[in-house]
Amino acid sequence: MPVSVVVGTQWGDEGKAKIIDLLAESHQVVARYQGGHNAGHTVVVGTEKYALQLVPSGVFYSHVTPVIGNGVVVDLPTLFKEIDTLESRGITCSRLKVSSLAHLIFPWHQAHDAISESSLGENKIGTTLKGIGPAYADKSRRVGIRVGDVRDSKRFKQLVRDRATAEQKVLTALGGEQLKIDEIVENFAALGDRLKPYVSDTVNFLHDALEHNENLLLEGAQATFLDIDHGTYPFVTSSNPISGGACAGTGLGPRDITRVVGIAKAYTTRVGSGPFPSELLGELADKIVEIGREFGTVTGRRRRPGWLDLVMLRHAVRLNSLTEIALTKLDILDTFETVRVCIGYELNDKELSGYPDDAQLLDQVTPKYVDLPGWKKSVSSVRHYADLPAQAKALIELVEKHVGVPVSIIGVGPERNECVVR
Ligand code: GDP
Ligand code: IMO
Ligand code: MG
Repeated sequence: MPVSVVVGTQWGDEGKAKIIDLLAESHQVVARYQGGHNAGHTVVVGTEKYALQLVPSGVFYSHVTPVIGNGVVVDLPTLFKEIDTLESRGITCSRLKVSSLAHLIFPWHQAHDAISESSLGENKIGTTLKGIGPAYADKSRRVGIRVGDVRDSKRFKQLVRDRATAEQKVLTALGGEQLKIDEIVENFAALGDRLKPYVSDTVNFLHDALEHNENLLLEGAQATFLDIDHGTYPFVTSSNPISGGACAGTGLGPRDITRVVGIAKAYTTRVGSGPFPSELLGELADKIVEIGREFGTVTGRRRRPGWLDLVMLRHAVRLNSLTEIALTKLDILDTFETVRVCIGYELNDKELSGYPDDAQLLDQVTPKYVDLPGWKKSVSSVRHYADLPAQAKALIELVEKHVGVPVSIIGVGPERNECVVR
């Protein structure tokens, strides 16, 4: 299994990091391929809990080289804060490699994110306000500053000053804040110098590792339905979290990828605005949020909960070439009388043949559900599939039958070993 991709199949926070941490044991490299510090990836090792935004989730193993790939947008203050926090807790980050081709996030990107959101009013995306969209926009406009630019300190300083000066004009016209340009230039000059030892030609590094028969794990952030092309546009992020994005975001080719693990929660959550056909409101929603502790890792916002949606999951199998699914947080449903699963969408009394190409329709469809009896006992200590309650197995088998790929890992708790591997 030389190159595996881990990808979210819903709207994020599926428990990707926990599964990446689990799989990282048998890999030599773990590389992020898109997104930035909008990600909040939680890894629980024993009694210690870590929330990662930029450092890849394989960092906890000394045999793993963590890589931030070229497709990521990097916020240097966050990166170094994260490195300092990890190192103060005994986790060494000196092996980290950051792609010279990755783009940097600057304070004007955050300022633009805030202006854009407030100008949208009621229609706002509900972004993390981390400047992710504006940073990718600058990359597409070909005015971005890249990690490799820090190698020449003098030139880097000038690039930052030039961009800051140009951005100030735009921000002023939009009624935005005044940038403290001198302070930004000095601050980023120091951050750039600190970044130098981490800057790396990660594209050749990854290919060399592959030639040496090492196993590589590519870590997706966000998820399939937040994908800029295939998600619920415009309520999406600004990158391609789908597995295809792993090639563009690392420089590996499509034929290098051998395994694609889609992570799905046993129910669904979403943070921020946008359509959500199987969304739950009321008491049951509160119950899921409370038991599942469904609050954003990055923004602390309450996540919107809903039932598992197999129309979405089947589409995620197609978009990502999933070879398998890891179904996480099964334990959160332990006390439910009934577990509902959405197996189809109806529009004007007609069943749609699949996931629609118009996200607006998702607000109008009526989900078709099957109700499964709950198992009403704790699954947290289960480690073998045979030991799961019959009702839980029925849920897993329904997923497999409906989406056509096996459920290979089942999450029954937040810790590394709290899962069933089939
Ligand atoms: P990610 O962004 O996809 O990596 O997911 P997050 O870290 O944002 O959110 C997932 C949350 O669920 C974290 O708090 C994890 O520790 C937790 N988690 C992951 N898998 C399981 C599981 O199988 N059971 C339970 N109870 N918690 C889990
Ligand atoms: P992980 O990797 C859940 C959502 C935001 C917003 C939309 C756009 O932890 O699963 P952005 O700041 O990216 O421009 O916001 O995407 N979003 C996430 N939701 N998990 C994430 O990451 C997310 N990253 C962004 O809430 O709706
Ligand atoms: Mg998260």
